[in-house]
Amino acid sequence: MNTTTDPARLEREIEAVGRDLVDHYPSPVRHPIRALDERAIQLSTRDAALRAALFRLVDVSPACRSLDDLARHLAAFAGEVDQPAAPLGAAMRAAGTRAGRVALGAAVAGGVRHMAHRFIAGPDPQRALGELRRLWLAGIASSVDLLGEAAVTSAEADHYADRCREALETTSAAAARYPPRPVLERDPAGALPRANLSVKVTALTPLLRPDAPRRGADDAAGRLRPLLCLARDLDAHLHVDMESFDTRETTLELLFALLDEAEFRSGPSIGIVVQAYLRDSPAELERLVAWAEGSERSSPLTVRLVKGAYWDHEVVEAGQHGWKPPVFELKPESDRNFERLSHRLLERARERPASVRAAIASHNLRSIAHAIAVHRLAGGDDAGLEVQVLRGLGDDLAVALAGAGLRARSYCPVGDLVAGMAYLVRRLLENTANESFLADRAQGTPLDELLAPP
Ligand code: 2OP
Repeated sequence: MNTTTDPARLEREIEAVGRDLVDHYPSPVRHPIRALDERAIQLSTRDAALRAALFRLVDVSPACRSLDDLARHLAAFAGEVDQPAAPLGAAMRAAGTRAGRVALGAAVAGGVRHMAHRFIAGPDPQRALGELRRLWLAGIASSVDLLGEAAVTSAEADHYADRCREALETTSAAAARYPPRPVLERDPAGALPRANLSVKVTALTPLLRPDAPRRGADDAAGRLRPLLCLARDLDAHLHVDMESFDTRETTLELLFALLDEAEFRSGPSIGIVVQAYLRDSPAELERLVAWAEGSERSSPLTVRLVKGAYWDHEVVEAGQHGWKPPVFELKPESDRNFERLSHRLLERARERPASVRAAIASHNLRSIAHAIAVHRLAGGDDAGLEVQVLRGLGDDLAVALAGAGLRARSYCPVGDLVAGMAYLVRRLLENTANESFLADRAQGTPLDELLAPP
């Protein structure tokens, strides 16, 4: 059954859903340091050289030995910016004296710490529990992501697998003591696990290479299998993240091969990701859905639809080889594809809830309102749809969704700043992009423009 909706009616419904969500947004609380890092992000949206300087500074900050050292790096990077904006000029003058450098270094260290804290829920699973519980009490579920990716040694991959084990045990034990939250715990297919862990396959093996896929997959399987057993025994959900395009095929084949093993028929609950910025993602979604519908597993496959976080990497990599990038190059193309894929994924989840669960992940109000609207107009129950956001970027949206009675899940990185640098840089790249929805919103773009079709 293919549900088609009258386009004008759909637009009216999107507008109504968007306005309702905005009514549930928390009123902004201005935190002085947050205002500062938002100002840096805003300035760098307009200035490519400043953007590069900011990134280099964030990148070196965990390795700086003193505040003086940090301020010298800031001044050196800032010195490469032509006609620096006023705040940067003031910072460079301050860097001329030792006392100025200490003050400047402290401000930068505070800013980077604040930014890290905004994106990272805690340095380890134990110390993230308070934050995860606070979210649950506010009606927001979570998925823990252990920072660290692209392992280069077996010892690193073993360490990541150990941290995943610890996270599954710690969060499952804590979640057992949560008070009931029916919206977060049940959908049309049945019970949803309270503990939820996202894992990256590139962190589970140093051998993942597209030219020798079997080797990497076998090595990763040795570390993923015990995690699947543990998640099954603890009744936790395990979500396999998607990373750069060159690892996609191996990641999927590895997961399908493991899940076809008899011991995983009865669990755990598993998730996978479709990246809408990939041109071939419509076929990829069909492939995943067909696999889930044909599988003999007792729990549905959760498909998390995202736009994709490796756009800059894919474009640069393809450019270096003279290839056409696998991603759409214009942002509205990804946004439109995301809408088509939301439509299709939600349709399959409504028709076959025992096989497929839909998780729609975006911070773009239009994209989210569109998914909710198409689902409702086709007769879908709100419980049959989950919205996912990243901690630090989608916090207000998650509060609004919870306030409107919908299931929101916050993706919560856990770990230290050094391990989290690649993650942090991806977040900064997205937020300083000219076409970022969040930047538009911060700059006060009117709601009807934010809700307009891409
Ligand atoms: C990333 O690590 C959120 O999984 C996504 O960038």
